[in-house]
Amino acid sequence: MSKTIQKNIHYKKYYVDSKLQYFKPHSTKIEKSFADEISFSLNQPLKFISPKFFYDKKGSELFEQICNLSEYYPTRTEINILKKLKDELPLYLVDSFRLVELGSGSSIKTRLILDILNRIQEKIEYFPIDISEILTESSALLQQDYDDLHITGIIDTYQGGLEFLSNYDDQKNLIVFLGSSFGNFTSNDGKEFLKKIHSTMKDDDIFLIGLDLVKNKTILENAYDDSQGITAKFNLNILSRINDELDADFNLNYFSHHAIYNEHDQRIEMYLKSLIDQSVSIKKANISLMLKKNELIHTEHSHKYTLSQIRELMHQTGFNIKNTWLDENNYFALTLVSKN
Ligand SMILES: C[S@@+](CC[C@H](N)C(=O)[O-])C[C@H]1O[C@@H](n2cnc3c(N)ncnc32)[C@H](O)[C@@H]1O
Repeated sequence: MSKTIQKNIHYKKYYVDSKLQYFKPHSTKIEKSFADEISFSLNQPLKFISPKFFYDKKGSELFEQICNLSEYYPTRTEINILKKLKDELPLYLVDSFRLVELGSGSSIKTRLILDILNRIQEKIEYFPIDISEILTESSALLQQDYDDLHITGIIDTYQGGLEFLSNYDDQKNLIVFLGSSFGNFTSNDGKEFLKKIHSTMKDDDIFLIGLDLVKNKTILENAYDDSQGITAKFNLNILSRINDELDADFNLNYFSHHAIYNEHDQRIEMYLKSLIDQSVSIKKANISLMLKKNELIHTEHSHKYTLSQIRELMHQTGFNIKNTWLDENNYFALTLVSKN
């Protein structure tokens, strides 16, 4: 199959060996956007910080700890569904597919899909896309365990990675987006994002998405406010990151983690609550922030869906549903769609 690799002038290439390479945007682009985005989002009447900034090295490590918490059902539930796909997913994989993963993180769930591909094709190409440097560690670990794996990692936003992919070559792609990370988007942004994936896909590409389902409020709130306080640490770590990278003076003792399930909007809402009246300086974002006691900084939405909403979402964004798999409690859904 012919390869017409684009000249990606915005990315620096890191060649590790013949089976492992990374692409990363030039660092000035990353630094500028972090400072600019923080400057914008903390200057709004309802202050917010984008959840994509959770994942510095410490944040990615904390997320891995969250995945192992008994309260955090999504990870183990989705893994159990993926295990059930062993015999069924190959039915949709005619010929050879490259695996593309949005928000690959630790790539632990990925292994279940790689195992499937390993059984049915000789060579596997894996294309993880993640904003976090964790991608390099996860890829090195995968390399140790899979002999015929070729990895091209894109350390960038989902959108950046999809742009990269859209110019790449004519190999068929199995795109996966796991962990219900899609639930972080607002309804409109989510639809735009799905349309972006749809327009990036070639006719024979397929897309597997994991989405968390609506369920009991207590189960949901416990999952995002665990008894060991790991999710609280994860949430507060975003302030440490701003301190370190943007020369700010957030005092973490003056903030608390706050997570509630908004039943009307079907979403967990995560905030950092200011415990006192305070001012904070963020030098590299050029702002001096005034916060009132009990004022909230929004950090994450995690939307939950019903099966009919998933069907509607996919149809509205142009996809054709091939199959949906659930766990025995109907907590989580994996939906496989094609472009046409
Ligand atoms: C909730 S974790 C899920 C990780 C893994 N897919 C799973 O299911 O366990 C989200 C992952 O997506 C990455 N991420 C978050 N926002 C991103 C964005 N806007 N663009 C690219 N990666 C992003 C994070 O670094 C993190 O590794």
